[in-house]
Amino acid sequence: MTPESPATRPARTSNHPDFARRGLLGAMAAAALLGSRAALAQQPPPFQRALPIPPVQTGTPQSDGRLGYALRMAAGSSELVAGTRTPTWGYNGSWLGPALRIPRGKPVAITLHNALDQASTTHWHGAHVPGDQDGGPQSIVEPGESRHYAFALDQPGATLWYHPHTDCLTGPQVYAGLAGLLIVDDGIDRRIGLPHTWGVDDIPLVLQDRRIDADGRLLYMNQQGDSMGMKGDRFLVNGLEQPYVNVPAQWVRLRLLNGSNARLYNVALADRRPFQVIASDAGLLPRPVPLQQLLIGPGERYEILLDCRKLQGRTLVLRSDSGDIVPELALSPMLADRFDRSGFDLLQLRVTAPSGTPGRLPSRLVDVEPLHAGTPPRRFSMQGAAPSPKPSPMEATCSLAPGPGGMSTGLHGLDMFSINHQYMDIWVINQRVQRGATEIWEISNDGHMLHPFHFHGTSFQILDRGGFPLPDQERGWKDVVLVRPFERVRVVARFDQPAGNDHPFMYHCHILEHEDNGMMGQFTVS
Ligand code: C2O
Ligand code: CU
Ligand code: CU
Repeated sequence: MTPESPATRPARTSNHPDFARRGLLGAMAAAALLGSRAALAQQPPPFQRALPIPPVQTGTPQSDGRLGYALRMAAGSSELVAGTRTPTWGYNGSWLGPALRIPRGKPVAITLHNALDQASTTHWHGAHVPGDQDGGPQSIVEPGESRHYAFALDQPGATLWYHPHTDCLTGPQVYAGLAGLLIVDDGIDRRIGLPHTWGVDDIPLVLQDRRIDADGRLLYMNQQGDSMGMKGDRFLVNGLEQPYVNVPAQWVRLRLLNGSNARLYNVALADRRPFQVIASDAGLLPRPVPLQQLLIGPGERYEILLDCRKLQGRTLVLRSDSGDIVPELALSPMLADRFDRSGFDLLQLRVTAPSGTPGRLPSRLVDVEPLHAGTPPRRFSMQGAAPSPKPSPMEATCSLAPGPGGMSTGLHGLDMFSINHQYMDIWVINQRVQRGATEIWEISNDGHMLHPFHFHGTSFQILDRGGFPLPDQERGWKDVVLVRPFERVRVVARFDQPAGNDHPFMYHCHILEHEDNGMMGQFTVS
């Protein structure tokens, strides 16, 4: 079940054109081969298997006073779809990883071991850590080796996450199963009475889509159009297709992560009952926001509270009502697939007897102090889906590396997507920010596709969306912002964490195939 191909690493070492051609032809051949495989046909009835709850690591006290955590990346196999074994990758298991619960301000030590046969990294998405602890593409861990991280998170309680950030290979490595939650715990959720019993009334939901062939293998980049963003037709929550979960008849907190490579979810209950949004990417909102549908882009997180107090014995279905909103977000029709046009079910909730101490819905949550910038805005423009006008040496710099079961990992380093007309080059620092500065970043989208823009090392507040009022759920701490076609969004952030030339921070589109194909840049903070 383990990948048989020899270990390869993303090489940034040769500019020789033969290298490029071989890499690209190899990828295309692999893609063509995979394209001939039949897609997995049978669709088991939904809601038959129970939602797996990722285990929590709370850390082991070490002699140096730090809390210790351990992650191990390895290959395995998973039953993503009932009755079918799929070769997959995971952290401490074969799909996803444990939720790391890290108390605010507490020094921690995380050991990351790479038992894959391919080089990788692990990045703490949303964490305020220095560049050399951030797990970006410079922080490669070779097969068989380990890396030790040490940091303390001084930031509001939030649902963050971790995932590989390997140059040119983030898309396929996340797709293979590598991702997990990282919870910053500042105790405020408990103090204000929010539900907080893990897996009972506080339930993490990692939303992902995959394409799987008749033999159970993951298919990646095997169809035309996949380079615009890899979307699947099987919908997983915490690694199982359309599971069910028992919830108590009380307020239930759902921590939603869009862990998909490219797909948007417009989360709703099938009966359109309202829910309360209480947190965005990097912290609690000032007050709960009642909504009937909630758009979540790749990399984004939201926490919602669902009122199940009077629903004992009932079932609810959580779904994506994509058809309501997603097709309009892609100005070119081929970018929306049939699921974007119609929607799909994600999870069934079965309401059972109340359990433990029920949480409540406070009318106020936390204060979010507005940031004020002292400098003129720094400008970013995103260009999508246009191949680089002239062949660049970049095309030579990513090599082919097989995913689990030998799945194609696609076309690496094809310069198709850019920021400020620049393509990711690991040897180039694109921006330099002064440490301690508060800056406005103005992000504009020049193209027909939506792009979720993300940057490392801090959290931001959204100021405005090209003159349109901000929805209330965007009035808290964020680290990913959806930028619609031809839209201009302004965000403000303070840059306190240092990052030098050797370990700069990244800014990028969080559609992983855009990121891998050029839509990323590097910045220092010093
Ligand atoms: Cu979620 Cu640069 O990453
Ligand atoms: Cu990140
Ligand atoms: Cu993009």
